[in-house]
Amino acid sequence: MSTLLDVKNLSTHFNTSAGTIKAVNDVSFKLREGETLGLVGESGCGKSVTALSIMRLVPSPPGRIVSGDVIFQDQNLLKISEEEMQNVRGRDIGMIFQEPMTSLNPVLSIGRQLREPLELHLGMTKQQSLSRSSELLELVGIPDPATRLKTFPHQTSGGQRQRIMIAMALSCEPKLLIADEATTALDVTIQAQILEIIKELTDRLGTSVIIITHNLGVVARYADSVNVMYAGKLRESGSLDQVYKQPKHPYTVGLLNSVPTLDLDADIRLQPIRGEIPNLTDLPKGCAFIDRCDYAEQKCQESEPELEEVEDAHFGACWEHQRVNKNLLGITP
Ligand SMILES: Nc1ncnc2c1ncn2[C@@H]1O[C@H](COP(=O)(O)OP(=O)(O)OP(=O)(O)O)[C@@H](O)[C@H]1O
Ligand SMILES: [Mg+2]
Repeated sequence: MSTLLDVKNLSTHFNTSAGTIKAVNDVSFKLREGETLGLVGESGCGKSVTALSIMRLVPSPPGRIVSGDVIFQDQNLLKISEEEMQNVRGRDIGMIFQEPMTSLNPVLSIGRQLREPLELHLGMTKQQSLSRSSELLELVGIPDPATRLKTFPHQTSGGQRQRIMIAMALSCEPKLLIADEATTALDVTIQAQILEIIKELTDRLGTSVIIITHNLGVVARYADSVNVMYAGKLRESGSLDQVYKQPKHPYTVGLLNSVPTLDLDADIRLQPIRGEIPNLTDLPKGCAFIDRCDYAEQKCQESEPELEEVEDAHFGACWEHQRVNKNLLGITP
């Protein structure tokens, strides 16, 4: 399968009164056509900013993409004009945002918001876009679409708004879907339904997907490959099996061991990762995980390990990766 998205050395910083927040710091990864990639890591580690950088939607100021390339279908999204980028957004890349209420316009009807990209990007007439909007709502499981199209975002429930966001993100059949915590705010049964809808639609269309989530179980179920992010950098990446069965970074092990699973013996305790993520304005000279790590050695204090290939297409950024034990509690893909 050919490469659809190639992110190279992406860095995005925020200039604040407290200093420069290195939210995304030299991140590189590739996504193949049809592949689903899970991007995981604790809160504040730079997942959303990575997605917003790809979409060129980083709020500026205070944010700025300071370096890197985002090659998508042979064009560098960081180099094209804003006008060209507007065509990429919505048409070639769909995004479901972490905050649905901020990305749905409260003063426009749902129908108007669904129709707009269809008319703008696909040149549909009003009649065509209206009937396509109804179809889309039906696809994401919204009953009585004709009536729903006339309503406004605040008149719909959280679960329905999320479905509408999915319909909007997929309306122009994009090549890439970025789903940022698409279901986190919802209760578990609706979460599962919505994830299944995303999977079904993207499988059918051959869409590549980046799933951003805290939920390692969601990644285990839906992703082909995994990027683990910590303090603005990728610390591990590989296939789902590689990362979940033979993790090469102590942080990945920590994440896996802090996930509850149903089949755990009652006497096995979850092991949350101690400490917290470092201040992104003042990162240590060596490894950013050092204060929380059980494997740390002198070298880890002195220099920061880069992401390197530790086995076939499996990358880890840890000096001590050979000593890292696979996860103890055994969440399995
Ligand atoms: N508009 C902004 N202004 C200043 N700092 C920001 C802004 N947006 C993000 N940041 C900072 O960038 C860092 C990365 O944030 P990001 O939203 O990418 O985290 P995340 O991994 O998506 O977290 P979560 O899981 O909570 O969504 C954080 O330190 C955050 O405070
Ligand atoms: Mg986020």
